[in-house]
Amino acid sequence: MSAPVRAFVALGGNLGDRRARLEAALAGLSTTPGVRVAAVSAAYENPPVGGPPQPPYWNAVAELRTTRSAHELHARLHTLEAEAGRVRAVKDGPRTLDLDLLAFGDEVVARPDLRVPHPRALERAFVLAPWADVAPDAVVGGATVLTHAARLRARAPAAFDALVRAALLAVPGVAAPRRPVVLGDAAALAAWRAAVAGTVGFVPTMGALHEGHAALARRARAECDATLVSIFVNPTQFGPNEDFARYPRTLEADLDLLARVGVDAVYAPSVEDLYPTGSSTRVEVAGPSGGYEGAARPGHFSGVATVVAKLLLRARPDRAYFGRKDAQQVAVVRRLHRDLDLPGRVVVAPTVRDVDGLALSSRNRYLSADERARALALPRALGAARAAAAAGERRVSALVGVAGSVLAQAPGVVPSYVDVVDPDAFAPLAELGEAPALMVATVKVGTTRLLDNEWMTVGDGTGPA
Ligand code: PAF
Repeated sequence: MSAPVRAFVALGGNLGDRRARLEAALAGLSTTPGVRVAAVSAAYENPPVGGPPQPPYWNAVAELRTTRSAHELHARLHTLEAEAGRVRAVKDGPRTLDLDLLAFGDEVVARPDLRVPHPRALERAFVLAPWADVAPDAVVGGATVLTHAARLRARAPAAFDALVRAALLAVPGVAAPRRPVVLGDAAALAAWRAAVAGTVGFVPTMGALHEGHAALARRARAECDATLVSIFVNPTQFGPNEDFARYPRTLEADLDLLARVGVDAVYAPSVEDLYPTGSSTRVEVAGPSGGYEGAARPGHFSGVATVVAKLLLRARPDRAYFGRKDAQQVAVVRRLHRDLDLPGRVVVAPTVRDVDGLALSSRNRYLSADERARALALPRALGAARAAAAAGERRVSALVGVAGSVLAQAPGVVPSYVDVVDPDAFAPLAELGEAPALMVATVKVGTTRLLDNEWMTVGDGTGPA
């Protein structure tokens, strides 16, 4: 028997009991011989596009494993539509059930009755948003679903903003992803913490979660008995003219993502819970806080250090996970953690990148499609410097020159700084030696600041954690 193929099906409908219809279709798929429903996204409520006045749709995407052919699966989708009473009378009219085969492994089908990948899937927010939920890593047309979603969001943000997460759908045989318990204040967190028997892995975040955060949470889950994520847009780390007010807040979507990762609890405190009226203490980490982001954003690292210290003291994790993308934050947190004897161990995980090399960041959603394309100069510049270092260049001035010339050729990309530093002290280096050396670079694209970094040398070859 041939190996099962990973296939994706879009489900939609706007007549009758929409949940019941979508769940019946999923049940119909899961009882089809040779088909297994591996996962399903949340259902999104979505205003109809075109056609007569009609109720909003619910849309979802299911991931299948199947030993059937694309043609057989397509035929089965038609049968399920017919069983749901679908009639194709009015173009763009209301529908009981609409099932589309989005992708079938890497197979390309171009027949009059079936085209795979689905020719319009990548132009529709109501397909890409649930698809990115369920399989952000799936590659279609040379890019991941996550990349397609980010690109379309940049071109058509309103189409994404119009989507509302309506429900998690039940599928026979698939354990419904259980949402993490939400802990709204310090007392709830303390009670949860006291009840955990084993080790706790903790991922502090500001929400607007992406695959980079999911990777940290997955690692926490793999390495610890219980996983806790905090979601708190920390006002003390934003300057007066920065993006605190417009920073994306997407709690519902974040909880769904964390449900799929299997996170146990989310600490989502209010500002008053973390900074009660009258609180006036700030933590200053001299040394690694000084230059680069610290110079460009006065007070930023004091805000980060203060909130991280408070979070670690409240959560008392065995391991706390941070992403390497914010390399200076990592240096500050490590210093803070050592100096204040904070609980647990700090674990640093590699930067997660999109297929085209752009480091994932919650702020990438501010970029227009054009800006996003320009922003690729940043990883390109770091890659060029890394190649020069690998070819034997030891002088930091020369490496900075290599990266700088790539950035200089990128229209609309304004470098703030490019340098090579000791990753712990965050002090500039003049030459590469035996010790780890990290190139750090920050650029502005439009109004968005983007940070990235790349190892020039990694010491003994394994690189610091
Ligand atoms: O990296 C972040 O998201 C934040 O700086 C952190 C560590 C959660 C503190 O607010």
